[in-house]
Amino acid sequence: MNFDAIPRSALPALLRRMPKAELHMHIEGSLEPELIFALAQRNGVKLPYASEEALRRAYAFTDLQSFLDIYYAGASVLLKEQDFFDMAFAYLARAADDNVVHAEIFFDPQTHTERGVPIETVIVGLSHAMRRAHAELGISSALILCFLRHLSEEAALATLEQALPYRHQFIGVGLDSSERGHPPEKFARVFARARELGLHVVAHAGEEGPPAYIEAALDVLKVQRIDHGVRCVESPALVQRLARERVPLTVCPLSNVKLCVFESMARHNLPALLDAGLVATVNSDDPAYFGGYVNDNFVAAFEALPQLGASQAWQLARNSFDASFADESHKARWRAALDATFSEVARVSR
Ligand code: ADE
Ligand code: ZN
Repeated sequence: MNFDAIPRSALPALLRRMPKAELHMHIEGSLEPELIFALAQRNGVKLPYASEEALRRAYAFTDLQSFLDIYYAGASVLLKEQDFFDMAFAYLARAADDNVVHAEIFFDPQTHTERGVPIETVIVGLSHAMRRAHAELGISSALILCFLRHLSEEAALATLEQALPYRHQFIGVGLDSSERGHPPEKFARVFARARELGLHVVAHAGEEGPPAYIEAALDVLKVQRIDHGVRCVESPALVQRLARERVPLTVCPLSNVKLCVFESMARHNLPALLDAGLVATVNSDDPAYFGGYVNDNFVAAFEALPQLGASQAWQLARNSFDASFADESHKARWRAALDATFSEVARVSR
């Protein structure tokens, strides 16, 4: 669709108002410093930071690993079902405010089970918040269980088996944590098992890792979406394949700048990905750590990149619905609402 008649001045409001799906966010990455300190106090957990301000000052990351070290320290305050409920409800309320109509949420059970928190506590707490948010705020959501790639495949297989009593409470599996040195092939068996169980499969690839990791995620893990994937542009043949096979990329602009994947937002390759015909989407990754939720990501990218206008905004929101694992009937409703929003804004811009 072409909405080039909509002026740039209308973009920030339009980006905020348009309905969208969020497909790449780690629920543990939505823990704001205020909630981290409140939960630490409630649970008697000692943090290696004196105050919320001191914690925020530590958010000066140089690469993925420098972030992950702080992210796992933050998650250490999560112990009880109520903690998982509070975290997820806070995110869902914030997302609903950004006109996110559907969220597919990553969670990292191993970050919690390794500290002695039962997987049941994690899944039940998160699911309760998701049901409450649907009933009270109208936002739909689903869980994707991620394996930590710095741990072994045996540990991932054991985690999947532990999660099976709650099989109906998550829709898929993913792969996250330290990418370099942990190629997708390491998790071939656990992904095969997940596919056998009828789960959706996605993986982080091509955030810091090379295009070969994206190819291995597709060929060995047989993933349906690539999380990040921005380094695909280093292989023109891979870009052509991703476009031809319509493999979605869940791109996270503020995350990429914070973790120094790109030097600045003005250097981000989101416009190039869209120009190549890829099913790119915009997401927040770890919103509490990277300077904003999904609308902040849209606004920052569109402000810094003059190639992005109203037509690209429509395409990105449309891609988020096309790439989601929701039912076709829901997708049809969201697509119609998206088109109605853009038609209305185009009409008043004339
Ligand atoms: N876990 C949380 N955020 C992540 C990211 N951006 N990459 C890999 N693992 C993560
Ligand atoms: Zn991520």
